[in-house]
Amino acid sequence: MTQIRAALIGTGVIVGNHMQALAHEAERVELVAAVDTNSDTLKRFAETYGVQQLYSDTAQMLAEQQPDLVMICTPPATHAALCIQALEANAHVLCEKPIAASLAVLDTIQDVERRSGRTCTSVFQWRYGSSGQHVKHLIEQGVFGKSLVGVCHTLWYRDDAYYAVPWRGKWQTELGGVSTGQGIHAMDFFLWLMGEWEVVQALVGTLNHAIDIEDVSLAQVRFQQGGLGSIVNSLVSPRQTSYIRLDFQRATVELEHLYHYRNHHWRFSIPEGAPYQDELAAWSSLGEDVEAHQTAQLTALLDALERGERPLTSGAELRHTVEFLASLYKSAFTRQPVERGSIGPDDPFYSSMTGAALP
Ligand SMILES: NC(=O)c1ccc[n+]([C@@H]2O[C@H](COP(=O)([O-])OP(=O)(O)OC[C@H]3O[C@@H](n4cnc5c(N)ncnc54)[C@H](O)[C@@H]3O)[C@@H](O)[C@H]2O)c1
Repeated sequence: MTQIRAALIGTGVIVGNHMQALAHEAERVELVAAVDTNSDTLKRFAETYGVQQLYSDTAQMLAEQQPDLVMICTPPATHAALCIQALEANAHVLCEKPIAASLAVLDTIQDVERRSGRTCTSVFQWRYGSSGQHVKHLIEQGVFGKSLVGVCHTLWYRDDAYYAVPWRGKWQTELGGVSTGQGIHAMDFFLWLMGEWEVVQALVGTLNHAIDIEDVSLAQVRFQQGGLGSIVNSLVSPRQTSYIRLDFQRATVELEHLYHYRNHHWRFSIPEGAPYQDELAAWSSLGEDVEAHQTAQLTALLDALERGERPLTSGAELRHTVEFLASLYKSAFTRQPVERGSIGPDDPFYSSMTGAALP
């Protein structure tokens, strides 16, 4: 395979994770250019990483460099337009979350994606840890039995200084609160493990920050296969943890970590006296230990492109998660349960996570 030519847009805080990913995949990808509208940030980035081709304008970069892959690391409200611009310039896109302000915006991006013949993937790095993929495989094989109840907690803490960054804390620029910006990683992973969701009932609150987005959300979910799930997203939790617990007929599967899980963060348990201790030992040996990080996602993206396959967190899989998010907000703001598939183009929550009016 010829080396892929990649360009980065946005060289702020999160770009370090993507530079780590690019360094890991240096044989398959070459970083040809970087764009940032802030010249100081771009200069610092260039000095740190020795990147030569620097731009303040994405259109000019796309025209001159014609990259195969564009990696978008800008603030949330800029994502959709940049995704569309890059797809129209014939590049594949890997975009930081949240990719879109609404289902309507995501559908527009995916229309352009279909027309372009390129792929547009959202960063959801938790699906790409090797142990997460191994557990997903075991679930699909049915070794744990039927999924019964799941718990998904993103209990993090953010102080006022975190919200001093101008784009944070506002619907218009951050596109949502803890559900959209932080809890989305665990929720996307949880929904992937639990299967198709059917109905969600949610609450949101702004409890401890002077912001107009939520800093806590709770959701109860029924899954198509009959299982029930409970989600808590919080940015007001001083002892921080990310916790997923899945209770199946034959086993409990737990993951506890903070941001980037590895093998040792998983725990498997079976009922006392259950006659399948040997199976428990087999499940617990998780094999290779690739961290759930942007690096693992870039590797998987390049593998998919080489095989001519759609990357995992794109297309219908991506829409599945964004639809869940829209339904969570609709349920919270209307105080009604929301069924999957019920938010169509005529629904105010199709074009706005807040149903157009701010709560
Ligand atoms: N996947 C994760 O775990 C994770 C973690 C943190 C942040 N993020 C996401 O990454 C994104 C960036 O976050 P950050 O903390 O790096 O933000 P940041 O503010 O530190 O950096 C964003 C950079 O983009 C530049 N920029 C803004 N508009 C631009 C435009 N139109 N064209 C080019 N450059 C532009 C800014 O000048 C800035 O340098 C956000 O969407 C955030 O949610 C993801």
